[in-house]
Amino acid sequence: MKKLSRIIALVCMSTLLLLSLSGCSSSQKDSANSNEQEKLKIGIVQIVEHPSLNTIRESFIAELAKEGYKDGENITIDYQNAQNEQTNLKTICQKFANNKYDLIVAIATPSAQAAVGETKDIPIVFSACTDPVGSGLVSSMEKPGKNVTGTSDAVSAEKIMELAKRITPDIKTVGALYNSGETNSQAVVEDLKKYAKKNGLTVVEGTVTNSSEVQQVASSLAGKVDAIFSPIDNTIASAMPVVTQVANKAKVPVYVGADSMVKDGGLATYGINYPVLGQETAKMAVEILKGKKPGDIAVKTMSDMDIYINQDTAKAIGVTIPGDVLKEASQIFAK
Ligand code: TRP
Repeated sequence: MKKLSRIIALVCMSTLLLLSLSGCSSSQKDSANSNEQEKLKIGIVQIVEHPSLNTIRESFIAELAKEGYKDGENITIDYQNAQNEQTNLKTICQKFANNKYDLIVAIATPSAQAAVGETKDIPIVFSACTDPVGSGLVSSMEKPGKNVTGTSDAVSAEKIMELAKRITPDIKTVGALYNSGETNSQAVVEDLKKYAKKNGLTVVEGTVTNSSEVQQVASSLAGKVDAIFSPIDNTIASAMPVVTQVANKAKVPVYVGADSMVKDGGLATYGINYPVLGQETAKMAVEILKGKKPGDIAVKTMSDMDIYINQDTAKAIGVTIPGDVLKEASQIFAK
């Protein structure tokens, strides 16, 4: 009798144990699975950390959260910065592609070119690419096709030069300072040359291949020209403090392609609003996360342009910004 009740007790206990074990393991597995399934993986690749690109990334992430896609909740954001190295870009994009991320967000042209080179099926949204067609990212702005779309920060060299002439009317020679390897800069410099030809200006080119050459090339240009023009170039943007030092010493105005380059010491620009561009990029990303094909979404260009001025630089080089230009400016940087 004793033996029988012991056997019954044992059977009961082991059944209970089995039940609880299997119950526990299956519920754990379920929740792990659903977590994995719910969280979409988004890889953000950025060529280098400079103020403008950081602003774009931050406003992109903020807008995504506003639209209900929050890092750590329903999405996982893997942000990688290539420290201005082409080989790093390739490694980063290969990792995103091999891990089958749900979306790649590429900030600036070199990052977008690397992403496009690594995957033909994962959706890619690029941000702030000046010349998406000329840079080989898409074949058409209206109907990109394939797995790629995004936003462009195209600016007008002509508009920037017209502003330059309002501020410093005696310009005869302009030095084009840029990285010859950045296709985003090439497009704007071509426009600058067209403008120069029409308006009787001479363009002197000062090209670099990396940021360590900027000081020497900027110094040599500053000795030869009435003004320096630098397009929306990632290499020059990351070396703006050096450019400013050289140009201010030579008392040469530097006209640039982006507001952050004015903040960092350039004299003026007529440029776009980058926080808005970051938000627009996020809206495209959301459409894609909800199932739309990138190839069916037209590349977006920003049409609102504003004047940005640096008064400290104006003072340093002895230039007075005309009152009407100051009145039109959307932002005036001064200490
Ligand atoms: N337009 C640049 C590109 O196509 C990227 C960029 C965005 C940038 N904002 C900038 C470059 C400001 C220099 C300064 O790669």
